[in-house]
Amino acid sequence: MNRIAVLTSGGDAPGMNAAIRAVVRASLYKEIEIFGIMRGYEGLIDGDIKQMVSRDVSNIIQRGGTILKSARSKRFTTKEGRLQAYNNLKEKNIDGLIVIGGNGTFTGAKIFGTEFDIKVVGIPGTIDNDLYGTDYTIGYDTAINTVVSAIDNIRDTATAHNRLFFIEVMGRDAGFLALRSGIAGGAEAILIPEKPTHLENLHLYLENGFKKPKSSGIILVAEGDHEGGAYEIAKKVRTDFENYDVRVTVLGHIQRGGRPSAFDRVTASKMGVEAVEALTNKQKNIMIGVKCGQSQYVSFDLAIKGRKPIDDQLYNILSILNY
Ligand code: F6P
Repeated sequence: MNRIAVLTSGGDAPGMNAAIRAVVRASLYKEIEIFGIMRGYEGLIDGDIKQMVSRDVSNIIQRGGTILKSARSKRFTTKEGRLQAYNNLKEKNIDGLIVIGGNGTFTGAKIFGTEFDIKVVGIPGTIDNDLYGTDYTIGYDTAINTVVSAIDNIRDTATAHNRLFFIEVMGRDAGFLALRSGIAGGAEAILIPEKPTHLENLHLYLENGFKKPKSSGIILVAEGDHEGGAYEIAKKVRTDFENYDVRVTVLGHIQRGGRPSAFDRVTASKMGVEAVEALTNKQKNIMIGVKCGQSQYVSFDLAIKGRKPIDDQLYNILSILNY
């Protein structure tokens, strides 16, 4: 392995820069030439590839976003796009590729690494934490803290006005972010796609809330919940509980930005170094995962297709915590 390239793709996540930094520095440490690809697979197809030196990654560990920029590439889903991408790598004699991203990124990486003789290794980077084979993805911890800080702010005004707030949290298909931040923020209810949302239960909760009596409350809704987003659920609740003063806040992309937490920086740094090591050990088509604090290699196939279970224990204590 003489030449490696690195890219970030899909939704950005805080800590991606720390991972890029680690990949660059670990490569140079091993005397491997390292190249940065701009705008994910889009830049790979366009040949937007530049050699990197150590100082290119100075002063970025604390920054959110990604210095390599990111994109969701439609062209990479086509055979012609991938062939062009492969030719660009071959032209520069690059034989290893490190991709930092989530589900979509690894789906593309798996096809690319099977179609062409290029070794691809993945680093999990998504605030959704929805990849199988790893307890944590880069950006998840920072996003939790961002959501918790938003919940704290909203609780102040909810309490002041005796209001019921529905807060929508990101997570197209997964409720990891909603569950953990909901527990940390003291939410009264958490609605996630992994669990059936029975509006009757929600009604029951609200009725009980009245009896307690509770004058304000926070209900966290993962954007992928089966009953709909926060606006839709709030609308249904409004018609049945006219005496509740209901408000909705959709946190949106605020959750994707910001200074990465120390946890994300450390995870990203470790994974970056391990991704380079994996390539020098001739690994391919795998993601670097972390399970109970230990690093492990997980096939792209498993990382994408495996159904990561939600933490049932955490989910089940919610009713106790709100007793
Ligand atoms: O995959 C990360 C994520 O933030 C999801 O939680 C969300 O559904 C999606 O990306 C939003 O994507 P975009 O920024 O392209 O609108």
